[in-house]
Amino acid sequence: MSEKKASLVIEGREQPIQLPIYSGTLGPDVVDVGAMTSEGLFTYDPGFVSTASCESQITYIDGGKGVLLHRGYPIDQLAEHSDYLETCYLLLYGELPTKAEKEEFVGTVHRHTMVNEQIRTFFNGFRRDAHPMAIMCGVVGALSAFYHDSLEISDEQHRQVAAFRLIAKMPTLAAMSYKYSIGMPFMYPDNSLDYAENFLHMMFGNPCEPSNISPVLARAMDRIFLLHADHEQNASTSTVRLAGSSGANPFACIAAGIAALWGPSHGGANEAVLEMLQEIGDVSRIDEFVARAKDKDDPFRLMGFGHRVYKNFDPRAKVMKEAADEVLAELGIDNDPLLGIAKRLEEIALSDEYFIEKKLYPNVDFYSGIILKAIGIPTSMFTVIFAVGRTVGWIAHWNEMISGSYRIGRPRQLYTGYTQRDFVPVEKR
Ligand code: SDX
Repeated sequence: MSEKKASLVIEGREQPIQLPIYSGTLGPDVVDVGAMTSEGLFTYDPGFVSTASCESQITYIDGGKGVLLHRGYPIDQLAEHSDYLETCYLLLYGELPTKAEKEEFVGTVHRHTMVNEQIRTFFNGFRRDAHPMAIMCGVVGALSAFYHDSLEISDEQHRQVAAFRLIAKMPTLAAMSYKYSIGMPFMYPDNSLDYAENFLHMMFGNPCEPSNISPVLARAMDRIFLLHADHEQNASTSTVRLAGSSGANPFACIAAGIAALWGPSHGGANEAVLEMLQEIGDVSRIDEFVARAKDKDDPFRLMGFGHRVYKNFDPRAKVMKEAADEVLAELGIDNDPLLGIAKRLEEIALSDEYFIEKKLYPNVDFYSGIILKAIGIPTSMFTVIFAVGRTVGWIAHWNEMISGSYRIGRPRQLYTGYTQRDFVPVEKR
C-alpha cells in the first residue's frame, strides 16, 4: 500500500503525531492510528462510522454513487447474468468459475445439503411457535458439535469443507425451522434440483406428492439469495470477523452473525417492512406514517429506508423493485395492495424534504419482502432467508481474515465512570 502521512497536532504537545495514510484500489484513503496507543491516546468512533476495521478484497461499496461490486463485478450485472452459487464461488475464490469449475462447485455443495439425523431431534426442544431466527441461532451454532473432523481453522482444507457445509446446509436448516413451526414433516433435500429450487422444495414440498416448483419463483428466490450474498463490513459480517478473531470455529462464528443480523436495524428490517406496510394498510394513511418517521419524539422509523453507507439508492433495492414487478406480473398478482403502498410510500418519501436532506433512500429490505410474500414465504422467515443468502459473505470474510495475518479484535473505550473509591461495609451505607 502506498504510504502518505497525516500529522496530528495536539495542543500542549511539542511534536505532532505522524500517522501513515494508506490508499486502496477504490474508496477513501485510511489513516493508520495504531501508533495512538503508544502516545497515550485512543481514537473514538462509536458505531464505527469512520472506521475501516480491516483490509478486504471481497466487496466494494460507494455509498454516494450507489455502487456495489463483488470482486469488481457490479451487483446489477451479477443479478441479471449470474446465479447464487456462481456468485458464491466468486466471493469465495475471487474469480468467476469456468463451466467445469462451476459444475464441480455445485456438485460439492449438493453433497453437503443433508444434516445429521440427530439435528432433527434438536428441533423438538423448541416450542412450535419459536421464531425461526431463534431456532437458526441455536441449530447453526450446534453444527460445531457434529464436525470435530473439520474445526482446525488453520487448516485450509478444514476451512473449505466448513464453507461448503454451511452454504449447503443453511437452506436445509431454514426449511426445517419453517416446517417445524407448522407441524409438517421435514423434507430431505433433492439434489437433482438447483439451489433455490431445492430450498422451495424443502419449504413447500410434502412427502406425499412430487414437488412442482415454479421456475419463476425459483429464479426470484435465487436472485433474492444473490442480492443478499455480501455487503462489506456490515454489522453481522463485522460480528463474524470479531468472533473469528478469537479463533472460534466457523459454525459458532456464523451463529453469531445470525444473531446480529436478527435486529430490526439490520436484517430484521425486511420482516419489519412487511409489518409496517400491513399496519399502514392503505395509501391514504401514508402521510400519517411519514409524519411519524420525521417526528423526533416518535421512535417510529420508516423501515426499509436509510442506510449507514448508501446516501443514494441501494443498487440492490433497484434490482429488487424490478424483480417485484416481474414476479407479481408473472404470477398474475396484479395490483398487490402492499406493493402499491410500497411504491406510493417511496414516491412520497423521496420527494419529502426530511428524507432528501438526510439522504434516506429505500434499502435492500424495502422491496424484498414483497417478493418473498409473493413466493409464499411467511413474514417470520424473511430474516432467515437473508441469513441463508448472507452465509457465503460471512464465510468469505471469515476465511479472508483467518487465511491471512490477524489479531484478536479488542476495542478500547472512553471511560466516564467513577474514579477509584474504597469499599463501604453494608452497615455504613
Ligand atoms: C441492512 O450495513 C449494511 O450494509 C446493512 C445491509 C447489509 O446488506 O448488510 O445493507 C442490510 O441492514 C439495511 C438497513 C435495514 N434497516 C432498516 O431499514 C431500518 C430503518 N433504517 C434505520 O434504522 C437506519 O437508517 C439505519 C440503521 C439503516 C442506519 O442508521 P445510521 O447510519 O446509524 O443512521 P442514523 O440512525 O444515525 O440516522 C441518521 C438520521 C437520524 O436523524 P438525526 O438524528 O440526524 O436527526 O436519519 C434518521 C435518523 O433519525 N433516519 C431515519 C431513518 N433512518 C435514519 N428517519 C426515519 N426513518 C428511517 N428509516
